[in-house]
Amino acid sequence: MRTYSDEEITAFGLNPNRIPNHVAIVMDGNGRWATGRGLPRGAGHRAGVQALKDIIRFTSDIGVESLTLYAFSTENRKRPKEEIGILCGLLIEYFNREIDELHSNGVRILSIGDLNWFPTAVQQTVREAEARTAKNPGLKLNIALNYGGRAELLRAMRLADEEAKKTGAEPDEAMLARHLYTADSGDVDLLIRTGGEERVSNFLLWQIAYAELYFTDVKWPDFTRDELIKALQDYAGRERRFGGLKTDGTK
Ligand code: IPE
Ligand code: IPE
Ligand code: MG
Repeated sequence: MRTYSDEEITAFGLNPNRIPNHVAIVMDGNGRWATGRGLPRGAGHRAGVQALKDIIRFTSDIGVESLTLYAFSTENRKRPKEEIGILCGLLIEYFNREIDELHSNGVRILSIGDLNWFPTAVQQTVREAEARTAKNPGLKLNIALNYGGRAELLRAMRLADEEAKKTGAEPDEAMLARHLYTADSGDVDLLIRTGGEERVSNFLLWQIAYAELYFTDVKWPDFTRDELIKALQDYAGRERRFGGLKTDGTK
């Protein structure tokens, strides 16, 4: 829920008229953050979870409508069991610790991806957080868990096909978009990837069709509010044409 006034947003060096509606983040670099410090990878994931709080709070306070976070991809299932176990434990710990505050800030939590793959304790924790916050009016916080863009598209195609058969309507882009996990959040305006890699890694393939892309070498545990402000400033300077021509009258 937006809590800052235009003046306060301007004081952060941001343009209140150029705040993206939907921000998506590939939170990458936890492992390298840890190994670079001689720590086990799990310590990087723990530090990564700590970075979440400030980023979620700030996006909510400046009035971003949707924040979609890549926490675990379908491909991440290839990782060692031990690392997956650590991530599951951190996820439960995170929700137990933060859910009250998220709820009181009006955040609406939605997991995207196939949650059924996770241990029951993870499913329960996440489902509870979703149910408790389902009617909240503030930031839509989508957390990608066992998420893959291709799997999401396949699922949406199947659901759209069912709808088409039932209603006789011709499937179109709008129909498919209605069956994406993120239907309520719409297209991504700004996609941020931390950790230095410049790739999409199967994230939100449909929704990023016209997203502005922002890559930074900063590893996720070091991605502070100031780093987010840099990304938002960069975004505010982009000219989005959506295939059309400049609209400000200049050549
Ligand atoms: C991202 O950090 C978090 C997850 C994929 C769960 P990584 O674990 O991929 O960190 P790096 O890329 O190995 O540094
Ligand atoms: C993308 O990071 C997935 C998440 C951040 C959850 P990865 O570390 O899994 O991506 P690749 O393997 O470098 O493409
Ligand atoms: Mg990685």
